[in-house]
Amino acid sequence: MKSSGYSKLAINQFETLGKKVFLFDEVTHDTDASIVASGAELALENDCDAVIGLGGGSVIDTAKAVAVIAGNGGKIWDYSSNKKDASRTLPVIAVPTTAGSGSEGNRYFIISDKEKKIKKVFATGYTYPVLSILDAGLTESLPQAKLAGTALDALGHSFAAYVSIKENAPGDLLSLNSIWIIFNYLPEALKNKGSKDSRSALMLAAAMGGIAIDLGGVGAAHAIVRALGGLYGLESSQATGIILPYTIEKARPAIDNKLSFMAKFLGWSSKDNTAGNDGLVIERLHSFTRDIGFPKKLGEIGEKKENIAVILEKILADEDLKNDPGSYTKKEAGKFLEEII
Ligand SMILES: [Fe+2]
Repeated sequence: MKSSGYSKLAINQFETLGKKVFLFDEVTHDTDASIVASGAELALENDCDAVIGLGGGSVIDTAKAVAVIAGNGGKIWDYSSNKKDASRTLPVIAVPTTAGSGSEGNRYFIISDKEKKIKKVFATGYTYPVLSILDAGLTESLPQAKLAGTALDALGHSFAAYVSIKENAPGDLLSLNSIWIIFNYLPEALKNKGSKDSRSALMLAAAMGGIAIDLGGVGAAHAIVRALGGLYGLESSQATGIILPYTIEKARPAIDNKLSFMAKFLGWSSKDNTAGNDGLVIERLHSFTRDIGFPKKLGEIGEKKENIAVILEKILADEDLKNDPGSYTKKEAGKFLEEII
Protein backbone atom coordinates (compact mmCIF):
# COMPACT_ATOMS: atom_id res chain seq x y z
CA MET A 1 0.00 0.00 0.00
CA LYS A 2 3.00 2.26 0.47
CA SER A 3 3.20 3.15 -3.21
CA SER A 4 -0.38 4.39 -3.46
CA GLY A 5 0.20 6.90 -0.64
CA TYR A 6 -2.89 5.79 1.29
CA SER A 7 -0.86 4.45 4.21
CA LYS A 8 1.03 7.74 4.52
CA LEU A 9 -2.28 9.59 4.50
CA ALA A 10 -3.69 7.33 7.22
CA ILE A 11 -0.55 7.61 9.37
CA ASN A 12 -0.66 11.42 9.13
CA GLN A 13 -4.29 11.43 10.23
CA PHE A 14 -3.51 9.32 13.29
CA GLU A 15 -0.49 11.40 14.14
CA THR A 16 -2.50 14.59 14.14
CA LEU A 17 -4.66 12.89 16.77
CA GLY A 18 -1.53 12.14 18.80
CA LYS A 19 -1.67 8.38 18.06
CA LYS A 20 1.39 6.32 17.13
CA VAL A 21 1.16 4.07 14.08
CA PHE A 22 3.70 1.42 13.05
CA LEU A 23 3.74 0.55 9.37
CA PHE A 24 4.01 -3.08 8.30
CA ASP A 25 4.08 -3.26 4.53
CA GLU A 26 5.47 -6.74 3.88
CA VAL A 27 2.15 -8.37 3.03
CA THR A 28 2.14 -10.20 -0.27
CA HIS A 29 -0.65 -11.80 -2.27
CA ASP A 30 -1.80 -14.95 -0.37
CA THR A 31 0.06 -14.20 2.85
CA ASP A 32 2.38 -16.86 4.19
CA ALA A 33 2.37 -17.68 7.93
CA SER A 34 5.94 -16.32 8.22
CA ILE A 35 4.69 -12.85 7.24
CA VAL A 36 1.99 -13.07 9.92
CA ALA A 37 4.70 -13.90 12.48
CA SER A 38 6.77 -10.82 11.49
CA GLY A 39 3.71 -8.56 11.63
CA ALA A 40 2.80 -9.87 15.08
CA GLU A 41 6.38 -9.30 16.24
CA LEU A 42 6.16 -5.63 15.23
CA ALA A 43 2.81 -5.27 17.02
CA LEU A 44 4.18 -6.90 20.19
CA GLU A 45 7.45 -4.94 20.21
CA ASN A 46 5.48 -1.71 20.07
CA ASP A 47 2.70 -2.78 22.40
CA CYS A 48 0.02 -1.99 19.79
CA ASP A 49 -3.61 -1.64 20.86
CA ALA A 50 -5.19 -2.44 17.50
CA VAL A 51 -4.37 -3.63 13.97
CA ILE A 52 -5.50 -1.77 10.86
CA GLY A 53 -5.73 -3.64 7.57
CA LEU A 54 -5.51 -1.06 4.79
CA GLY A 55 -5.39 -2.84 1.45
CA GLY A 56 -6.89 -5.74 -0.48
CA GLY A 57 -8.24 -9.01 0.91
CA SER A 58 -4.81 -10.47 1.72
CA VAL A 59 -3.93 -7.38 3.76
CA ILE A 60 -7.14 -7.45 5.80
CA ASP A 61 -6.77 -11.20 6.33
CA THR A 62 -3.21 -10.67 7.52
CA ALA A 63 -4.33 -7.91 9.89
CA LYS A 64 -6.75 -10.39 11.48
CA ALA A 65 -4.06 -13.06 11.82
CA VAL A 66 -1.58 -10.54 13.28
CA ALA A 67 -4.23 -9.38 15.77
CA VAL A 68 -4.79 -13.00 16.87
CA ILE A 69 -1.08 -13.72 17.46
CA ALA A 70 -0.29 -10.33 19.01
CA GLY A 71 -3.17 -10.77 21.47
CA ASN A 72 -2.98 -14.47 22.25
CA GLY A 73 0.53 -15.66 21.37
CA GLY A 74 1.73 -18.78 19.57
CA LYS A 75 1.71 -19.48 15.86
CA ILE A 76 -1.19 -18.99 13.47
CA TRP A 77 -1.52 -22.75 12.82
CA ASP A 78 -2.32 -23.22 16.55
CA TYR A 79 -5.65 -21.49 15.82
CA SER A 80 -6.70 -23.77 13.02
CA SER A 81 -10.18 -25.25 13.73
CA ASN A 82 -10.30 -23.02 16.84
CA LYS A 83 -7.91 -25.29 18.72
CA LYS A 84 -6.52 -22.37 20.75
CA ASP A 85 -8.41 -19.68 22.65
CA ALA A 86 -8.38 -16.41 20.66
CA SER A 87 -10.37 -14.28 23.10
CA ARG A 88 -7.57 -11.72 23.59
CA THR A 89 -7.34 -10.89 19.86
CA LEU A 90 -6.59 -7.20 19.29
CA PRO A 91 -9.35 -5.12 17.65
CA VAL A 92 -9.12 -5.06 13.85
CA ILE A 93 -10.06 -2.10 11.67
CA ALA A 94 -10.59 -2.96 8.00
CA VAL A 95 -10.10 -0.41 5.22
CA PRO A 96 -10.48 -2.23 1.89
CA THR A 97 -8.88 -0.82 -1.24
CA THR A 98 -10.53 -3.42 -3.49
CA ALA A 99 -14.19 -4.38 -3.82
CA GLY A 100 -14.04 -8.14 -3.60
CA SER A 101 -12.81 -10.28 -0.72
CA GLY A 102 -15.50 -9.14 1.72
CA SER A 103 -13.08 -9.76 4.59
CA GLU A 104 -14.20 -6.41 5.97
CA GLY A 105 -17.62 -7.99 6.64
CA ASN A 106 -16.73 -11.27 8.30
CA ARG A 107 -14.56 -13.24 10.72
CA TYR A 108 -12.70 -15.27 8.08
CA PHE A 109 -9.08 -14.97 7.10
CA ILE A 110 -7.00 -17.09 4.77
CA ILE A 111 -3.32 -17.76 5.39
CA SER A 112 -0.98 -19.85 3.23
CA ASP A 113 1.77 -22.26 4.01
CA LYS A 114 3.79 -21.85 0.85
CA GLU A 115 6.10 -24.77 1.72
CA LYS A 116 3.25 -27.23 2.21
CA LYS A 117 1.35 -25.60 -0.69
CA ILE A 118 -1.84 -25.09 1.29
CA LYS A 119 -4.23 -22.19 1.88
CA LYS A 120 -6.16 -22.47 5.10
CA VAL A 121 -9.34 -20.67 6.16
CA PHE A 122 -9.44 -19.51 9.78
CA ALA A 123 -12.47 -18.18 11.62
CA THR A 124 -12.74 -17.00 15.19
CA GLY A 125 -15.50 -15.14 16.98
CA TYR A 126 -12.92 -12.43 17.72
CA THR A 127 -11.78 -11.55 14.21
CA TYR A 128 -14.84 -9.61 13.06
CA PRO A 129 -13.53 -6.11 12.29
CA VAL A 130 -14.65 -3.68 14.99
CA LEU A 131 -14.88 -1.05 12.25
CA SER A 132 -14.81 -1.22 8.45
CA ILE A 133 -14.42 1.91 6.37
CA LEU A 134 -15.79 1.65 2.83
CA ASP A 135 -14.41 4.48 0.71
CA ALA A 136 -14.71 4.04 -3.05
CA GLY A 137 -11.99 6.66 -3.55
CA LEU A 138 -9.52 3.99 -2.43
CA THR A 139 -10.36 1.82 -5.46
CA GLU A 140 -9.52 4.58 -7.93
CA SER A 141 -6.04 3.31 -8.72
CA LEU A 142 -7.13 -0.32 -9.23
CA PRO A 143 -6.27 -1.68 -12.68
CA GLN A 144 -9.34 -2.76 -14.70
CA ALA A 145 -8.42 -6.47 -14.56
CA LYS A 146 -8.13 -6.33 -10.78
CA LEU A 147 -11.44 -4.45 -10.50
CA ALA A 148 -13.15 -7.15 -12.58
CA GLY A 149 -11.43 -10.04 -10.80
CA THR A 150 -12.22 -8.82 -7.31
CA ALA A 151 -15.84 -8.06 -8.25
CA LEU A 152 -16.17 -11.62 -9.52
CA ASP A 153 -14.81 -12.89 -6.20
CA ALA A 154 -17.61 -10.90 -4.52
CA LEU A 155 -20.15 -12.29 -7.01
CA GLY A 156 -18.86 -15.76 -6.16
CA HIS A 157 -19.45 -15.13 -2.45
CA SER A 158 -22.99 -13.91 -2.99
CA PHE A 159 -23.93 -16.78 -5.30
CA ALA A 160 -22.31 -19.32 -2.97
CA ALA A 161 -24.13 -18.04 0.11
CA TYR A 162 -27.46 -17.82 -1.77
CA VAL A 163 -27.35 -21.43 -2.99
CA SER A 164 -25.53 -22.88 0.04
CA ILE A 165 -27.13 -25.76 1.91
CA LYS A 166 -26.82 -23.42 4.92
CA GLU A 167 -28.80 -20.70 3.11
CA ASN A 168 -30.88 -18.39 5.31
CA ALA A 169 -33.12 -15.34 4.88
CA PRO A 170 -30.69 -12.61 6.02
CA GLY A 171 -27.95 -14.10 3.84
CA ASP A 172 -30.34 -14.31 0.86
CA LEU A 173 -31.26 -10.64 1.19
CA LEU A 174 -27.63 -9.59 1.20
CA SER A 175 -26.70 -11.97 -1.61
CA LEU A 176 -29.52 -10.96 -3.95
CA ASN A 177 -28.81 -7.27 -3.51
CA SER A 178 -25.10 -7.78 -3.94
CA ILE A 179 -25.67 -9.81 -7.14
CA TRP A 180 -28.03 -7.14 -8.49
CA ILE A 181 -25.42 -4.44 -7.86
CA ILE A 182 -22.58 -6.36 -9.50
CA PHE A 183 -24.59 -7.21 -12.63
CA ASN A 184 -25.76 -3.61 -12.93
CA TYR A 185 -22.67 -1.63 -11.92
CA LEU A 186 -19.60 -3.66 -12.82
CA PRO A 187 -19.86 -2.98 -16.59
CA GLU A 188 -20.15 0.76 -15.85
CA ALA A 189 -17.25 0.65 -13.38
CA LEU A 190 -15.10 -1.03 -16.02
CA LYS A 191 -15.94 1.56 -18.65
CA ASN A 192 -13.22 4.25 -18.60
CA LYS A 193 -12.45 3.55 -14.94
CA GLY A 194 -16.10 4.09 -14.06
CA SER A 195 -17.96 6.62 -11.99
CA LYS A 196 -17.46 6.97 -8.28
CA ASP A 197 -21.10 5.87 -7.87
CA SER A 198 -20.45 2.56 -9.59
CA ARG A 199 -17.32 1.92 -7.54
CA SER A 200 -19.16 2.83 -4.33
CA ALA A 201 -21.91 0.40 -5.24
CA LEU A 202 -19.38 -2.36 -5.88
CA MET A 203 -17.73 -1.72 -2.54
CA LEU A 204 -21.05 -2.15 -0.82
CA ALA A 205 -21.77 -5.30 -2.85
CA ALA A 206 -18.43 -6.80 -1.80
CA ALA A 207 -19.06 -6.07 1.88
CA MET A 208 -22.57 -7.56 1.59
CA GLY A 209 -21.10 -10.68 -0.05
CA GLY A 210 -18.60 -10.87 2.80
CA ILE A 211 -21.36 -10.83 5.41
CA ALA A 212 -23.44 -13.29 3.36
CA ILE A 213 -20.70 -15.94 3.44
CA ASP A 214 -20.34 -15.43 7.16
CA LEU A 215 -23.98 -16.53 7.32
CA GLY A 216 -24.12 -19.15 4.57
CA GLY A 217 -20.53 -20.18 3.77
CA VAL A 218 -18.85 -20.66 0.41
CA GLY A 219 -19.05 -23.74 -1.80
CA ALA A 220 -17.38 -25.71 -4.59
CA ALA A 221 -16.03 -22.74 -6.57
CA HIS A 222 -14.05 -21.46 -3.60
CA ALA A 223 -12.88 -24.93 -2.60
CA ILE A 224 -11.44 -25.42 -6.09
CA VAL A 225 -9.98 -21.91 -6.27
CA ARG A 226 -8.31 -22.33 -2.90
CA ALA A 227 -6.79 -25.67 -3.95
CA LEU A 228 -5.43 -24.10 -7.15
CA GLY A 229 -4.07 -21.10 -5.23
CA GLY A 230 -2.33 -23.29 -2.65
CA LEU A 231 -0.89 -25.71 -5.20
CA TYR A 232 0.06 -23.45 -8.09
CA GLY A 233 -0.31 -19.89 -6.80
CA LEU A 234 -3.13 -19.30 -9.28
CA GLU A 235 -4.72 -15.83 -8.91
CA SER A 236 -7.93 -16.58 -7.02
CA SER A 237 -10.16 -13.84 -8.41
CA GLN A 238 -9.54 -14.82 -12.02
CA ALA A 239 -10.13 -18.50 -11.31
CA THR A 240 -13.39 -17.68 -9.47
CA GLY A 241 -14.70 -15.83 -12.53
CA ILE A 242 -14.06 -18.87 -14.68
CA ILE A 243 -15.35 -21.58 -12.32
CA LEU A 244 -18.42 -19.90 -10.78
CA PRO A 245 -20.90 -20.34 -13.69
CA TYR A 246 -20.06 -24.05 -13.98
CA THR A 247 -20.63 -24.73 -10.27
CA ILE A 248 -24.01 -23.00 -10.37
CA GLU A 249 -24.91 -24.97 -13.50
CA LYS A 250 -23.85 -28.22 -11.82
CA ALA A 251 -26.05 -27.49 -8.80
CA ARG A 252 -29.04 -26.49 -10.95
CA PRO A 253 -31.32 -29.47 -10.20
CA ALA A 254 -31.08 -28.73 -6.46
CA ILE A 255 -31.51 -24.96 -6.72
CA ASP A 256 -33.90 -24.44 -9.64
CA ASN A 257 -36.51 -22.69 -7.47
CA LYS A 258 -33.97 -20.36 -5.91
CA LEU A 259 -32.49 -19.48 -9.30
CA SER A 260 -35.97 -18.80 -10.69
CA PHE A 261 -36.64 -16.46 -7.78
CA MET A 262 -33.31 -14.76 -8.46
CA ALA A 263 -34.29 -14.22 -12.11
CA LYS A 264 -37.49 -12.52 -10.96
CA PHE A 265 -35.60 -10.41 -8.41
CA LEU A 266 -33.12 -9.30 -11.06
CA GLY A 267 -35.96 -8.48 -13.45
CA TRP A 268 -34.89 -11.11 -16.00
CA SER A 269 -37.78 -13.55 -15.93
CA SER A 270 -39.85 -13.84 -19.05
CA LYS A 271 -42.49 -16.32 -20.16
CA ASP A 272 -41.02 -16.90 -23.59
CA ASN A 273 -37.53 -17.94 -22.68
CA THR A 274 -36.82 -21.56 -23.55
CA ALA A 275 -34.21 -22.20 -20.85
CA GLY A 276 -36.64 -21.54 -17.96
CA ASN A 277 -35.98 -18.79 -15.45
CA ASP A 278 -33.39 -20.89 -13.63
CA GLY A 279 -31.61 -21.60 -16.90
CA LEU A 280 -31.70 -17.90 -17.69
CA VAL A 281 -29.59 -17.10 -14.60
CA ILE A 282 -27.01 -19.68 -15.67
CA GLU A 283 -26.95 -18.35 -19.26
CA ARG A 284 -26.57 -14.76 -18.06
CA LEU A 285 -23.85 -15.71 -15.59
CA HIS A 286 -21.83 -17.43 -18.33
CA SER A 287 -22.24 -14.51 -20.73
CA PHE A 288 -21.53 -11.90 -18.01
CA THR A 289 -18.13 -13.43 -17.22
CA ARG A 290 -17.33 -13.82 -20.95
CA ASP A 291 -18.31 -10.19 -21.68
CA ILE A 292 -16.04 -8.94 -18.90
CA GLY A 293 -13.20 -10.86 -20.51
CA PHE A 294 -12.79 -13.98 -18.39
CA PRO A 295 -11.52 -17.03 -20.29
CA LYS A 296 -13.87 -19.96 -20.74
CA LYS A 297 -11.66 -22.63 -19.17
CA LEU A 298 -8.90 -22.85 -16.56
CA GLY A 299 -6.59 -24.29 -19.23
CA GLU A 300 -6.47 -20.82 -20.76
CA ILE A 301 -4.80 -19.44 -17.62
CA GLY A 302 -2.27 -22.25 -17.41
CA GLU A 303 -4.02 -25.00 -15.44
CA LYS A 304 -3.31 -28.54 -16.66
CA LYS A 305 -5.54 -31.63 -16.86
CA GLU A 306 -2.62 -33.80 -15.72
CA ASN A 307 -2.96 -32.14 -12.28
CA ILE A 308 -6.54 -33.31 -11.76
CA ALA A 309 -5.67 -36.13 -9.32
CA VAL A 310 -3.77 -33.74 -7.01
CA ILE A 311 -6.47 -31.06 -7.15
CA LEU A 312 -9.15 -33.68 -6.56
CA GLU A 313 -7.48 -34.86 -3.37
CA LYS A 314 -7.41 -31.29 -2.01
CA ILE A 315 -10.98 -30.36 -2.84
CA LEU A 316 -12.50 -33.57 -1.52
CA ALA A 317 -10.87 -32.81 1.84
CA ASP A 318 -12.22 -29.24 1.84
CA GLU A 319 -15.09 -28.67 4.29
CA ASP A 320 -16.58 -25.95 2.05
CA LEU A 321 -17.43 -28.50 -0.62
CA LYS A 322 -20.11 -29.83 1.76
CA ASN A 323 -21.91 -26.46 1.67
CA ASP A 324 -22.44 -26.72 -2.06
CA PRO A 325 -25.84 -27.97 -3.24
CA GLY A 326 -24.15 -29.68 -6.20
CA SER A 327 -23.19 -33.34 -5.90
CA TYR A 328 -19.42 -33.92 -5.78
CA THR A 329 -18.55 -37.59 -5.31
CA LYS A 330 -14.95 -38.42 -6.20
CA LYS A 331 -16.04 -39.53 -9.67
CA GLU A 332 -18.30 -36.50 -10.24
CA ALA A 333 -15.73 -34.03 -8.97
CA GLY A 334 -13.07 -35.55 -11.26
CA LYS A 335 -15.43 -35.29 -14.25
CA PHE A 336 -16.23 -31.70 -13.29
CA LEU A 337 -12.53 -30.74 -13.13
CA GLU A 338 -12.05 -32.35 -16.52
CA GLU A 339 -14.84 -30.14 -17.86
CA ILE A 340 -13.63 -26.82 -16.42
CA ILE A 341 -9.90 -27.24 -17.20
FE1 LIG B 1 -13.35 -15.24 -2.16
